[in-house]
Amino acid sequence: MTSSADQNRLYFPATERNRASIGDALSEMLPEQGAVLEVASGSGEHAVTFQRRFPGVLWQASDSDPIHCKSINAWIAHECLGDQMPPALQLDVLDQPWLIPEKISVELKVVIAINLIHIAPWSCCQSLVEKASEYLPTGGLLILYGPYRRNRSHTSMSNESFDQSLRERNPAWGVRDLEDVETLCRDVGLGNMHIVQLPANNLIIGASKAA
Ligand SMILES: C[S@@+](CC[C@H](N)C(=O)[O-])C[C@H]1O[C@@H](n2cnc3c(N)ncnc32)[C@H](O)[C@@H]1O
Repeated sequence: MTSSADQNRLYFPATERNRASIGDALSEMLPEQGAVLEVASGSGEHAVTFQRRFPGVLWQASDSDPIHCKSINAWIAHECLGDQMPPALQLDVLDQPWLIPEKISVELKVVIAINLIHIAPWSCCQSLVEKASEYLPTGGLLILYGPYRRNRSHTSMSNESFDQSLRERNPAWGVRDLEDVETLCRDVGLGNMHIVQLPANNLIIGASKAA
């Protein structure tokens, strides 16, 4: 029998395709301990997958959409991770300030966004980078996953048509220039950029907070 909580679980098919490669990259980037704040967690499938794979960290999932937050909580319950993971936070990256539980802000080591900045206005990327810099301690990491243009060009035909389809859905969306994101990060003290190529022409990038 399906419980009513189970009915809240959403399935985002891309998470099944990319969770292993993102997880492999994270295994080289995440600290052994500390809190990870994931913004724009969507269904919550990544959050529960990574909480299981990296049990030393405390994975705080969040999303601006209350339906997605319900899905995250339903996945946490379904995976019996309620003792390890806090419930989803309803957080919009544009919020001023970010209202983060004290336990998370005290232990925060990583802010991560998977597939957000191209499916949101540029102001979301700006706010995300600024807030990450504000809340992360020295050495803390901002991690971003998704497709990027490099040297002002698309890196594949599929990214170019994806970009077009995003802009048709919303003119404020679109595949971002890696150089613009790097500049945003550098301007707020997030540097030492680490870039890893992942399947399907996606990148995972990590920028660490300077002293
Ligand atoms: C393409 S989905 C990606 C979800 C998930 N990270 C994944 O890769 O499956 C984009 C997510 O960003 C969330 N989102 C959009 N704008 C946001 C904002 N301003 N603040 C926080 N989350 C936002 C949406 O609700 C949605 O869950």
